[in-house]
Amino acid sequence: MHHLACPKCHEPLILDGKSYRCQNGHCYDIAKQKYINLLLNPDKATNNPGDNKESLLCRQHHLNKGYYDGILNEVMHCLTKYTSSPRQLLDLGCGEGYYTYRIKELLNDDSTIYGLDISKIGIQMATKYTKDIYWIVGNSKNIPIDDHSLDVITALFTVVNAQEIERCLKKNGYIIHVTANPYHLVEFKELIYDEIKIKSDQHIRLPFSVVESYDYKQTIHLQTKEDTLNLLQMTPHYYHIKKERRHVLDTLGEFDVTIDIRITVYQVS
Ligand SMILES: C[S@@+](CC[C@H](N)C(=O)[O-])C[C@H]1O[C@@H](n2cnc3c(N)ncnc32)[C@H](O)[C@@H]1O
Ligand SMILES: [Zn+2]
Repeated sequence: MHHLACPKCHEPLILDGKSYRCQNGHCYDIAKQKYINLLLNPDKATNNPGDNKESLLCRQHHLNKGYYDGILNEVMHCLTKYTSSPRQLLDLGCGEGYYTYRIKELLNDDSTIYGLDISKIGIQMATKYTKDIYWIVGNSKNIPIDDHSLDVITALFTVVNAQEIERCLKKNGYIIHVTANPYHLVEFKELIYDEIKIKSDQHIRLPFSVVESYDYKQTIHLQTKEDTLNLLQMTPHYYHIKKERRHVLDTLGEFDVTIDIRITVYQVS
């Protein structure tokens, strides 16, 4: 059973033919590719918010080659350690949907899974993995899900809003939050910037009880120039390369790069 809610009035959405409707008459069509656009115009900063198509395609190639499956395994470990089947699970800022799809596949149970991203292109790409996930174009600052209906939220490298998370999670529900540490992909930073700034990550801590928080480090070997460029291009660093440094892209080949992330499991009360 789903817990989709109207992004305008927050009443439950009920399936009505090829649309979802709330009791106040707000209506949202299911797109041909099987996703629902629940992003309101006021929640959009631009016409095409979120990651762009090039970056999403690079992300898709990179993830499908399994380079970040170490991260997926950590998320799965936390999911199965803290929550039990069947779950109501939301993957916030799911991008092109790889992790959401793999979570569904690995859980292999009756969990109800939602993948939400502000990028319509990302969600359209995600529908190709499976139609068995509620793929939603939406904003993490106005999550179109009923109050206190989710067991767990996963949020990997994305924008989170504490109030909305608290509203959507059941009492004692969990959030599995994956964030980049300062030395994440440091080899790319060394290539691109004159000076590497080590920023504090205090601003991405959430105001809930920390159940577990640990660093995960791994060196991955990108096997081809294409793989190296894919990873670089799915990060913001790519867009910060100064003109006079562009030539480094031509010199790239296979590449060793450091994954350095933090996984924090919070529980709301
Ligand atoms: C770095 S990507 C991570 C995607 C995915 N979690 C992954 O790890 O492959 C960040 C994602 O957050 C999405 N995003 C940014 N702001 C958002 C918002 N306010 N609400 C929902 N998604 C948002 C972007 O469109 C992008 O797909
Ligand atoms: Zn409504």
